[in-house]
Amino acid sequence: MNAPKDFISVADWPAEELQALLRRAAELKRLHRKREGHATLPGRTLAMYFEKPSLRTQVTFEAGIAQLGGQAIQLRREQVGIGTRESVEDVARNLSRWVHGLVARTYDHALVEGLAASATIPVINGLTDALHPCQAMADALTVVERVPLDEATLVYVGDGNNVAASLVLLWAQLGGRIRVSTPASHRVDPVYWERAEVFAAASGARIEWVEVPEAAVDGADFVYTDVWTSMGQEEEGEARRQLFRPYQVNEALLRAAPEARVLHCLPAHRGEEITSDVLDGARSLVFDQAENRLHAQKAILERTLGEAPAPL
Ligand code: CP
Ligand code: NVA
Repeated sequence: MNAPKDFISVADWPAEELQALLRRAAELKRLHRKREGHATLPGRTLAMYFEKPSLRTQVTFEAGIAQLGGQAIQLRREQVGIGTRESVEDVARNLSRWVHGLVARTYDHALVEGLAASATIPVINGLTDALHPCQAMADALTVVERVPLDEATLVYVGDGNNVAASLVLLWAQLGGRIRVSTPASHRVDPVYWERAEVFAAASGARIEWVEVPEAAVDGADFVYTDVWTSMGQEEEGEARRQLFRPYQVNEALLRAAPEARVLHCLPAHRGEEITSDVLDGARSLVFDQAENRLHAQKAILERTLGEAPAPL
């Protein structure tokens, strides 16, 4: 099997590598819970560059590398000045001489790709405007802990954003069943959707778009939603609240999916895309998902940094 240098999109990774990551994540979770040591990356250093706020991604990567025996260095955007103080290429080349890997959360997806192209170390996408692959891996782990991916229907309701695109790509790669319910104006980026259709043709995955949320959630095993206004879209907030109102995940919508468990990547905008009673209710798996960020990313760190050459 061949793992790419970087973890920027699940579309770049062979399906069998993604499956192996999920199996290893489950094993790392068992070791962690039994408090058995798993310091597989001693002495490795992970740089972390975040242009947007974060709780889960930042803490789980920093805790994750520490639990694997390494350490993290936080970089501040204004301190580094990528593209202003120093070019993307030079930042990547410098980091490659000192540390073993880089996690980057950026607005522009092309910036993460640019860092990866110039770095000899692995670059991991900690969320861009386009994709959130680490989230999708944690979500897949959360689902397969309960039911095989090809035996469950996951229905994503809301904005066809970075999280939706990564879920569709991952489910398509792994042969899962995913239905996406968004307004026609806010479907998943066609570039990713068409890529997912190609994967689905090979894997047997079923991906479909159903505009009306009540119809989409019929028969769902999992109902997933994310914010209507992603980081960087704040100026569109009011227009988005109007547009997406019919897509709120609430008790009324879930009556059409009586068996469904509820997923959300967090942070939630309570009272917008999801009501508090649903988020805090018995069907909710949101904190299992959040926990699984740690274990999924430790598997990704092992597979990427474990293979990486030491800095010169
Ligand atoms: N789900 C997620 O990525 O959370 P943060 O933005 O807090 O990292
Ligand atoms: N779609 C959200 C996800 C946050 C984890 C955003 O990009 O803000």
